[in-house]
Amino acid sequence: MAEPNAPAVPQGYRLAVLDEIDSTNAEAMRRALAGDHGPLWLMARRQTGGRGRYGRHWVSEPGNLYTSLMMTAPAAHARLANLSFVAALALSDAVAQLLDEPARSQLRLKWPNDLLIAGAKTSGILLEAQPLPNSRELALALGFGVNIDHRPSLALPYAATFLAEHGVTVTPGGLLQLLAERFDHWHRTWTGPRGFAPVREAWLARAQGVGAPIEVKLQGETIHGIFEDLDDDGALVLLLSNGQRRKILAGDVFLR
Ligand code: BTN
Repeated sequence: MAEPNAPAVPQGYRLAVLDEIDSTNAEAMRRALAGDHGPLWLMARRQTGGRGRYGRHWVSEPGNLYTSLMMTAPAAHARLANLSFVAALALSDAVAQLLDEPARSQLRLKWPNDLLIAGAKTSGILLEAQPLPNSRELALALGFGVNIDHRPSLALPYAATFLAEHGVTVTPGGLLQLLAERFDHWHRTWTGPRGFAPVREAWLARAQGVGAPIEVKLQGETIHGIFEDLDDDGALVLLLSNGQRRKILAGDVFLR
């Protein structure tokens, strides 16, 4: 049964609200391994082992949004990485509904799925997948961490901001409700007849740095080039100074 004041999620989805957990992504995987097929939104007030991309720690004190959507999908699905762009569009729509100008016009997406306000990171998304035993399905955890009340006090390699700094007053549950509605919209778009194309177009229209020189930090390598395009798999297409193109599937992007 839904808790009083629990956020409403669209029809077909369920929601579980937790006080404290190690990581909503880890909990999503545990529930999938225990036989839950989702789609299930998990939201925690606090995480003790919040994780970011590349195994980084995600500081998770109360006041910000920590949520994961758990889903299962056929393991043979070729385009699951597209989901992180579906997620980024949903979050940018949800946050845009809360912001006034000038911050709303300063919202941008940074490849693959960070949400920036005036160039400063306000949220991160972590897509994780794991095969389910004795099954042809994968468990997926699509985790969103959104700075609402505060930014991490750690030294970060990028500028960070939080929604309250831009005049937003929303509870984590209130933001989740908007996010869940927009996720359902973009997920239906992606599973519709045109597939990734409208997601790609909308993502590119909101992206930071398209057509501009960028730096991409990979594991053990930094490369420079022009951010030319997003391909059908969600890879960043980088035009190098020698005229060749390189597709980037994972890395950290910095505007030069
Ligand atoms: C990033 O490094 O930018 C991604 C951060 C993702 C953090 C969220 S918080 C909710 C979910 N649970 C986790 O442990 N991580 C994601």
